[in-house]
Amino acid sequence: MEINAILADFLLIRIIIACFLVNSQPYTESFILSYNIDMNILIIGGAGYIGSHVTREFLDRGHGCTVFDNLSSGLRENLFSEAKFIHGDINDYMQILGAMKDSAAPFDAIVHLAAFKAAGESMLNPAKYSKNNIAGTINILNAACETGINNIVFSSSAAVYGEPQYIPIDEKHPTLPENYYGFTKLEIERLLSWYDKLKNIRYASLRYFNAAGYDVKGRLKGLEQNPANLLPVIMETACGMRKEMQIFGNDYDTKDGTCIRDYVHVNDLAVGHAMALDYIIKNKKSLTVNLGSEQGFSVTEVLETARTVTGQPIPAKITGRREGDPAKLTASCALSHELLGWKAQHSDLETLIKTSWEVYKK
Ligand code: UFG
Repeated sequence: MEINAILADFLLIRIIIACFLVNSQPYTESFILSYNIDMNILIIGGAGYIGSHVTREFLDRGHGCTVFDNLSSGLRENLFSEAKFIHGDINDYMQILGAMKDSAAPFDAIVHLAAFKAAGESMLNPAKYSKNNIAGTINILNAACETGINNIVFSSSAAVYGEPQYIPIDEKHPTLPENYYGFTKLEIERLLSWYDKLKNIRYASLRYFNAAGYDVKGRLKGLEQNPANLLPVIMETACGMRKEMQIFGNDYDTKDGTCIRDYVHVNDLAVGHAMALDYIIKNKKSLTVNLGSEQGFSVTEVLETARTVTGQPIPAKITGRREGDPAKLTASCALSHELLGWKAQHSDLETLIKTSWEVYKK
C-alpha cells in the first residue's frame, strides 16, 4: 500500500513538472522531463551510432525502451542494460510484428532508424537499399497498424533535397535526391504521409544534416565499422587506424576550395527525436523538419580543428572530387525552433571533435 502511495505521489509530481514545462520555454536539456512521461518506446535500429544516442536520451527521460536491431551495423556494446534488446530484422515481417506484439506493455511509439546509409553504395547496389530501407519500412508500418501503434519518429536525411537550389535549405526546398539512398528516404516520407491519411499514423520525419560527435557524457563508445563520413575518417587517421586520409577536392567555389557542411551533434539529434515525439502526440499532427546546426564548416576547417584538438598531425592528401558532392550545404532550422523549440546545443566544431576524440584515442 505504502509503496503504491509513494509511486502515485511521484507520478503526480512528474505530471505537474511536465505540465509546467509544456507551458514554459520549450527547449530542454536532457535532464528535463518530457511532456509525455513514461512511455514505452520501440527503437528500431537502436544499436547503431545514432540509434544508441537516441535510446540513451529516451532512457534519460524516464521512458521504457526496447531496442530492435539486426546488428548488421549496430553493435552490442551500444546496448544499455535498462533497455530490452530484441535481435531481429525488419525484413522479416513476423519478427517485427512479434516484437511489437510481445511487449509486456503496449508500445506508445516507434522510433525508426534502421537503414543503410552509404550514398555511394546505394548507387551501386540499389536492391539492397530498396529491400531494407523501403520494403523494411513497409513491414514496420503494416505491423504498427496491425498492433495499433500510431506514433512514429523516422530518421530521414537532408539527402532528400539533392543538389541545393539555395542555402540555407529549408523544408520547402524541392526534394530531388541525387543518390538512391536519398530516394529511399524520400519514398519512406511519402509512405508515412499516406499511412497518416489512410491509417491515422502520426509521424515525425527528421531530416538530419551531417550527424557527428559522440555522447558528451562519454557513455557511448562504439566505433562505426568502415566509416566513410568525414569526422570518423579524420578520427581514424588521427589515432593511426589509417595512414592518411583524402580530401575530396579543393577546387569548389567556397572560401578555401573544400566543401562546406552542416555538422550536427548526435546528442542534439537525440533531443530532437524526443521533442518531435512529444510534438506529434501533443498536437496529434505529423511533422517534417530539418535538424542541423545552421553553421557551415569546410573540410579544411574541420581537419585543422581536429589537428589542434587531438595534437596529431593527421596526414591528408588532396584528391579529386567525390561524385555527387555539392559545394555547400547548410540547414535552416527555423521550423524546428518554431514547432519544437529545438536548437542545436553541442554542435560547435570543438565539441564535435573533442567528444569523438575521447572515443577514438583509446
Ligand atoms: N570528405 C572528404 N574525405 C573523406 C570523407 C568526406 O573530403 O574521407 C568530404 C566530402 O567530400 C564532403 C564532406 O567531407 O565534402 C562531408 O562528407 P561526408 O561523407 O561526411 O557527408 P556527406 O555530406 O556526403 O553526407 C552526410 C550523410 C548523408 C546525409 C548528408 C546530409 O552521409 O547521409 O550528410 O547533409 F544525407
